[in-house]
Amino acid sequence: MVLGVTFNSKDAIFWGCCAAAATATAGVITYYATKKYEEIVPIQYQYRPGTISGWLASALEKHSKTRRKMRPVRVYLDGCFDMMHYGHANALRQAKALGDELVVGLINDAEILRCKGPPVMNEEERHTLVDAVKWVDEILTEVPYDLKPEFVNDLFTKHRIDYIIHGDDPCLLPDGSDAYAHAKKLGRFKMVKRTEGVSTTDIVGRMLTCSRVNHFIKEDEPHPLASAFSMGREASGADASTSDDNTRTTLSKFLPTSRRLVQFSNGRVAPEGARIVYIDGAFDCFHPGHVKILKAAKAQGDFLLVGIHTDEEVQARRGPHLPIMNLHERSLSVLSCKYVDEVIIGAPCVMTDDLMTTFNISTVVRGSTSETSCLGPVEEERYAVPRKAGVFRELPSPSDMTARNVIQRIVAQREAFEKRNAKKVKGEEAYYQGAKTYVQEL
Ligand SMILES: *[C@@H]1O[C@H](CO)[C@@H](O)[C@H](O)[C@H]1NC(C)=O
Repeated sequence: MVLGVTFNSKDAIFWGCCAAAATATAGVITYYATKKYEEIVPIQYQYRPGTISGWLASALEKHSKTRRKMRPVRVYLDGCFDMMHYGHANALRQAKALGDELVVGLINDAEILRCKGPPVMNEEERHTLVDAVKWVDEILTEVPYDLKPEFVNDLFTKHRIDYIIHGDDPCLLPDGSDAYAHAKKLGRFKMVKRTEGVSTTDIVGRMLTCSRVNHFIKEDEPHPLASAFSMGREASGADASTSDDNTRTTLSKFLPTSRRLVQFSNGRVAPEGARIVYIDGAFDCFHPGHVKILKAAKAQGDFLLVGIHTDEEVQARRGPHLPIMNLHERSLSVLSCKYVDEVIIGAPCVMTDDLMTTFNISTVVRGSTSETSCLGPVEEERYAVPRKAGVFRELPSPSDMTARNVIQRIVAQREAFEKRNAKKVKGEEAYYQGAKTYVQEL
């Protein structure tokens, strides 16, 4: 009995200790589980730059940088890039972010004609536009429309491509099989998100609507505003009768975010002592003529600042349903051009002393081919300030292409486009209404 009691009390003490230890452990675990690393570890022992972990991280980063410099990751994206818009530019931007060197496969005119119908811009024009995009490093021409296995192998071996990139829409070969099956099997396929709210179909639709009511795009007719126009907004009075048409039937679905602007921006200020060149305009339907004049403008100094006029301003000068692309869309197109350093989103049409000082502009340029040259002497007044200061230069336009030409080309092929368009619009509507899901963008 005594023995039993002793045994029992020993037992009780043992289990009591166990229970206490378990409670204490649980308490400690609960306490630390609810605390953050920073709260538990004294600041002097926390990993931070300069500690072993920081040193290790920077060494690894340096190593991967040297490796990638020696053998850069090459990515490949193909397309027609017909009537290039910021959606294309955004795809190129995302593709570039997946590697170090971006190689673009530009499909030639004959292939596009065979597979889709006539392109609006010929190969040379499309080449100029793609080549001007700041994320593009190399362009391959003579690429097939359908990605055949032999060509994919060529890409991997001859052109040293590491990854083939494509948008998040399905791409099928004529026989219905996945064009990227081979690359996917090798683990060498990556996807980029398609850009919301813009498509060639949509832009063609806007142009067709515009061509029905806007006289500005009819080449042979004098500009209806040419006589009535005087600096300011009186011009819009001349269009009062058509004001019903002024409302856009094809509204842009583009939702500009600050993040998008940051992605496209160079994020740099002009270095000390840089000569800043300024050029302004509508830059509607960004075309090869724009690229060439921007290149010529950049050559006049060190830093190119582009002023982009507001939608209201452009409409007052050019008439209803213009510009085709809204201010933010036009800004993104201009920002994607490698010659451009900075843009003013919504710049005044008339140059002022204040503008010159604010941006330390040293030269103001303008191309000799102007969309609104028909507006006569009023147009000249815009540059009175830089002219007086002796910093104005008119550059011979390297190209006589205008936004009007682009729209006219579409209108000339109206029937073919409207047919092609009606079919594609249905597909896109279905995408917006039903199939649209959230995809993370790079
Ligand atoms: C303003 O531009 C001129 C060149 O036109 C340059 O010499 C000067 O350094 C610039 N000012 C600043 C603060 O960068």
